[in-house]
Amino acid sequence: MKLTSANMNVMVKACRKASKVIIRDFGEIENLQVSVKGPGDFVTNCDKKVEKILIEELQKAKPDYSILSEEIGEINKDESFKWIIDPIDGTSNFLHGVPHFAISIGLEHNNEIIAGIIYDPIKDEMFTAEKGNGSYINNQRIRVSSRSKLKDCIIFTGGPKHISKNKELCIKEYNKFSSKVIVPIRKFGSGSLDMAYVAAGRCDGYWQRDLNYWDIAAGILLVKEAGGFVTDFQGDNKYIENKTMLATNSKINKEMIEILK
Ligand code: IPD
Ligand code: CA
Ligand code: CA
Repeated sequence: MKLTSANMNVMVKACRKASKVIIRDFGEIENLQVSVKGPGDFVTNCDKKVEKILIEELQKAKPDYSILSEEIGEINKDESFKWIIDPIDGTSNFLHGVPHFAISIGLEHNNEIIAGIIYDPIKDEMFTAEKGNGSYINNQRIRVSSRSKLKDCIIFTGGPKHISKNKELCIKEYNKFSSKVIVPIRKFGSGSLDMAYVAAGRCDGYWQRDLNYWDIAAGILLVKEAGGFVTDFQGDNKYIENKTMLATNSKINKEMIEILK
């Protein structure tokens, strides 16, 4: 049975409120594509507005919790609880009018993620997970896929970022991967949704370098609670420190590590 904690209710409420702004502003984006200035500043403003609503809502309910959020950085209070926020994950998609982006919020307790939400406001898909209580999409239980042979899988990846010092490495990994196995490899441009899709069994495995904690905090719990594996490219749990994320179903983890390491 799905149990929903008070914290999850707060996260859901914050996402729903902030998504109204995202949906309204996304409606404007198409018009701005043809303007001389383009939608750049407009999108930055939307990002900030969304972040403000999320923080206000979360703080209203839990004034003492600390916060790490992409645009404003850290608000340090009670260190034992911390919200990890990405107000819009998939900004490039948003900017270009591509309807694939999400709000992502994770909640840490004593440095461990205990709750996560990833909300795609355009498709109205809400992915949630709480520690020990499974993963869900719109309140329906989700599980990772059961494909065991890489050749039958669909794999997601992302990056490299233009400014990444690991750009060459990312290209090498991609080439190595695509030359070793003939599988469809997709780049959808939203790390949080990539992780949510692994949890939902829509994608069998996802690897990416150089992600920030706010891109993946909620996704890590979603994948684990859906029965998947989250490791770095060596198969260890240093994915935050090493900035290498590998999220898979429980069957193809080893095969992917063999290629990536
Ligand atoms: C980005 C997205 C993208 C990933 C980048 C992230 P943003 O986040 O998650 O999929 O490839 O590394 O920075 O900038 O859209 O919040
Ligand atoms: Ca992000
Ligand atoms: Ca973002």
